[in-house]
Amino acid sequence: MSRGNEGRRQKAEGRSEKLRFRVRFACSLLLSAFCLLPSFGCRQKMANQPRYDPLEASDFFTDGMSARPRIAGTVARGELVTNEFFSTGKMGGRDGNGFPVPVDAALLDRGNERFNIYCTPCHGRLGDGKGMIPSRGYRHPPTFHSDALRNQPTGHFFDVMTNGFGAMPQYGTIIPPRDRWAIIAYIRALQLSQNATAADVPSNVKLESGGQAILPVPPNGQAGSPVVHGGAR
Ligand code: HEC
Repeated sequence: MSRGNEGRRQKAEGRSEKLRFRVRFACSLLLSAFCLLPSFGCRQKMANQPRYDPLEASDFFTDGMSARPRIAGTVARGELVTNEFFSTGKMGGRDGNGFPVPVDAALLDRGNERFNIYCTPCHGRLGDGKGMIPSRGYRHPPTFHSDALRNQPTGHFFDVMTNGFGAMPQYGTIIPPRDRWAIIAYIRALQLSQNATAADVPSNVKLESGGQAILPVPPNGQAGSPVVHGGAR
């Protein structure tokens, strides 16, 4: 074979190599486009659902809101009022006093936990109104340890949580009624703890000179008793 022939053969092989590569490349492009096509199609349909986003305006309803009010006379599941005082804090339309549920250590523990989650950011752990949020400029809540708030009936606290009060937001949609009562029980314990005298301390609890209560250790070995509240928890 002459040199010229050899050269032409190599060139021809090179060309067919390139061609094969291009065909393969085009095929794989086509294949991936084919695979992507249906997923684009799907995305399009899912993204364009005929639905409203929360709080989106509507030009269908005359009041311009997509969120619809409850239909008069209907009751949502779990919201049937069988006990006016339990569900509203009212007795005959006025703030009631006392508790519609038994106040025991379990309720106080629950109230302690819920209070620390929902109320301490503004009211502080002691309920003295010195929470973190007012320290950054929000309106200062009043202390719970004034005569005025000590003498308010429990129904008032229920009402403040349910409907809000001045600058305070409402928690009626977030905290269910039983937890609102647990929080009130805990606030009552806080009020007692911040206004207690030596005479309020049970006789089996020793007092240190600084007024610090030393709780007797019950036989089961767990320190603490449900009688004295508001300690460093
Ligand atoms: C975002 C801050 C904030 C949170 C959280 C908050 N409060 Fe308040 N609260 C306030 C402010 C501010 C006031 C004073 C409102 C005013 O006078 O305008 C107030 C007032 C009150 C009062 C006094 C009402 C009166 O008669 O003077 C009570 C009781 C109360 N809050 C209970 C609670 C309870 C219980 C929680 C937890 C479920 C809670 N608050 C959570 C800010 C808050």
